[in-house]
Amino acid sequence: MIRSVVRGVGTALPRRLMKNAEFEELVDTSDEWIVQRTGITQRYIASEDETTASLGEAAARAALDNAGLTPADIDLIILATSTPNNTFPATAVEIQERLGIHHGFAFDMQAVCSGFVYAVTSADAHLRTGLARRALVIGSETFSRILDWTDRTTCVLFGDGAGAIVLEATESEGTPADRGIIAASLRSDGAHKEKLFVDGGPSTTGTVGHLRMEGKEVFKHAVGMITDVVVDALDKGGIGADDLDWFVPHQANKRIIDASAKKLGIDADKVVVTVHLHGNTSAASVPLALGAAVADGRIKQGDLVLLEAMGGGFTWGAVLLRW
Ligand code: UT7
Repeated sequence: MIRSVVRGVGTALPRRLMKNAEFEELVDTSDEWIVQRTGITQRYIASEDETTASLGEAAARAALDNAGLTPADIDLIILATSTPNNTFPATAVEIQERLGIHHGFAFDMQAVCSGFVYAVTSADAHLRTGLARRALVIGSETFSRILDWTDRTTCVLFGDGAGAIVLEATESEGTPADRGIIAASLRSDGAHKEKLFVDGGPSTTGTVGHLRMEGKEVFKHAVGMITDVVVDALDKGGIGADDLDWFVPHQANKRIIDASAKKLGIDADKVVVTVHLHGNTSAASVPLALGAAVADGRIKQGDLVLLEAMGGGFTWGAVLLRW
């Protein structure tokens, strides 16, 4: 059988670092409130010349370097983003052009914070059915462009950035001991639209709009939804939570991460946390966390890794893989 195996990972962050204290000048907040309620201490904010496409390209190039591959080796690009450069064409196609790739195909995936988990699952399906051989899966976001910078309940939470992995179709015995994507679980439910959405769009207001969130409402659902899909992915893979080497959750709030890991019975020292450094970067958060844990030597080849995310829609999902 074919397994989709991770060959490399790369990340990219905007130049400008913004610490919590800077928000004290903008809105009625404090470093203490932000740290206590979210765990966030800083985030990166894209400058005018930095876009979802440029950050995505930089992360893709880093992932290709890490894999020892070149753009010519790639025949599929899936970009998870809710902040595309333009309404169309897909920013994935712009990244394809920036990488000098003129074969294969590229498209955007829109599942907000769950976008990377959805994109990995989609790339896996393309590789396993022979539609492509090597995929770049990118999460890239510039949420700073859709924030209401006067709304303290949302503007302190998000940041910009990008992360990418290269997935390769590989012949495999398909046992849990073999490398590659083992199982996934995806969900969505539009009944929750009003709890987290952007109040504009091409077909409604004709504007880009701003992010709106009932944070408490999202929080209330997050842990249950996350643990449901994680348990489903583990069950499908025939793996127990105890067997996991690394839990790489969506980085929205340290309290949600801690509560999810606790409910799943995963030790805190197996949980990759980067929310304090990046804030919530939506679809970029999981690959940014993966990149950090690979770069510092925590995640190694052969490790059993569980990715999860939950966000606007609601959408939620989990992917189980052997690195
Ligand atoms: O990535 C997609 C998924 N998104 C999420 O997972 C986000 C989920 N939600 C959360 O992470 C949390 O709900 C927040 C961090 C957004 C908020 O934390 P909370 O503990 O749920 O706080 P709260 O909304 O209940 O607000 C508590 C108080 C309120 O004041 P009162 O009504 O108690 O007087 C807020 O007005 O904190 C106030 N507040 C702030 N105070 C200082 C809200 N934002 C701020 C702020 N600075 N930035």
